[in-house]
Amino acid sequence: MLQTVFSDAALPVDGVLAILVPEDGPRPASYVAADRATGGALERAVGADSFSFGAGRTCMLLAPGGGFDRVLLVGLGKVAEIGARVVENAAGAAVAALGKLADAARIAADGIAPGLAAHVAQGAVLTAFRFDTYHTRMPEDARWRLTRVEILTPDAAGAEAAWTDLSAVARGVYLARDLVSEPANVLRPPEFVTRIEALRELGVEVEILDRDAMAELGFGALLGVGQASDAPSYTALMRWNGAGDESAPLAFVGKGVTFDSGGISIKPAGGMEEMKTDMAGAAAVVGLVAALAGRGARVNVVGAVGLVENMLAGNAQRPGDVVRTCSGQTVEVINTDAEGRLVLADVLWYVQQRFTPRLMVDLATLTGAIVVGLGHDYAGLFSNDDTLAGRLAAAGEDTGELLWRMPLADSYREALRSDIADFKNVGGRPGGAITAAKFLEQFVNQVPWAHLDIAGTAWARKAAPCTPKGATGFGVRLLDRFVRDHHEG
Ligand code: BES
Ligand code: MN
Ligand code: ZN
Repeated sequence: MLQTVFSDAALPVDGVLAILVPEDGPRPASYVAADRATGGALERAVGADSFSFGAGRTCMLLAPGGGFDRVLLVGLGKVAEIGARVVENAAGAAVAALGKLADAARIAADGIAPGLAAHVAQGAVLTAFRFDTYHTRMPEDARWRLTRVEILTPDAAGAEAAWTDLSAVARGVYLARDLVSEPANVLRPPEFVTRIEALRELGVEVEILDRDAMAELGFGALLGVGQASDAPSYTALMRWNGAGDESAPLAFVGKGVTFDSGGISIKPAGGMEEMKTDMAGAAAVVGLVAALAGRGARVNVVGAVGLVENMLAGNAQRPGDVVRTCSGQTVEVINTDAEGRLVLADVLWYVQQRFTPRLMVDLATLTGAIVVGLGHDYAGLFSNDDTLAGRLAAAGEDTGELLWRMPLADSYREALRSDIADFKNVGGRPGGAITAAKFLEQFVNQVPWAHLDIAGTAWARKAAPCTPKGATGFGVRLLDRFVRDHHEG
């Protein structure tokens, strides 16, 4: 992880310096000092470039004088609109611009409220994420160089204290991104379990249900999905008891299909490699639990992930098979590629029966239909509870992990009727993301529940502020914020 330090030392006049500058109001002292040290180079560049200091805009000056190698001006937009996200995105823009050019940089943050300085580190770290495990050599123009950022702020001690909590969230995001980035030959269910067991170091209780335990509990739907893989299936349970009492936990449930070939209802070859990311819901749950434990959140939480590989073999599940779920309800498997809902059906029901959670939120790369509906900008939000839905959507706005609420009317259940079993696992093309959510709802009783369909937001084909291209870690920041705002004493 990018190293960040906070310093209230005087403005340096050498090396690589990024200056965060609001669009209106007086220029920050660091800007004025750097302009003076360079004989007015900053003002000349701003004029020559017609640079406006709009949020996230950058202007790079090379060897502007005064001993600087580079000065990077970064716009913050209007003062009235500068909050945590604007600051994170501006710091992210700075790091994105400098990452391949310099080993170390300073960011002058005297243009923002001192209370926001820790968010400079957050934006810098989130933007500097790289997954380089399997490169044995890196082309010079692709090599990431930046390893250290010094953030100049008048209250370095205060920023350092705030960063203690924020950095735990950043580590949770990194963990989720690492898991999603791993190729599916490396991250199969047993390896996923090993990675989850490492959370014990943070004080998380980890319990693993293996195939025998799940068979005993009646997880016929989950086990059916994994039965053609020669890697065994698991359910992993993580408990973080930070509330200091026995209060009912919040439950977070994730789809962890480590590879989704589609099974016998096999997917087309084009783009199938992306199905290594079909465990992004589980990765977000693991990253969230790591974040909460890492910052000692005062809340009781259960994380639960169903880990399976959806493959083909002589013993594979067939279209038309009927499976019995943990709830006792039966399902006709019309399409073996609608496997995520089968996995979640068992885990949702089990978590609810065993832990009587205060609420449940599941995350899943569940449907291509949600990508058709919402693209890559919003994840789908489905809920049986308006308060819960409203709070999640608000946390999404605050963190930039956006959610759009979708309908869940009972009329959609018709599409799931089966002639031979209680339900079919698919409802046809119309409203495909909704009927998938409606299927999940059949395995939830009474408890406030929300389902986040993150198929369009878990993996980014192009970079965005604070998310390099690739795994986004979507859900970790959102749910950390939701927990912090509503469930910590
Ligand atoms: N894992 C996929 C959904 C998905 C699609 C995730 C694109 C990420 C990107 C899911 O298991 C799936 O295959 N869904 C099917 C359901 C259909 C068979 C009813 C789909 O969306 O096509
Ligand atoms: Mn599938
Ligand atoms: Zn899937």
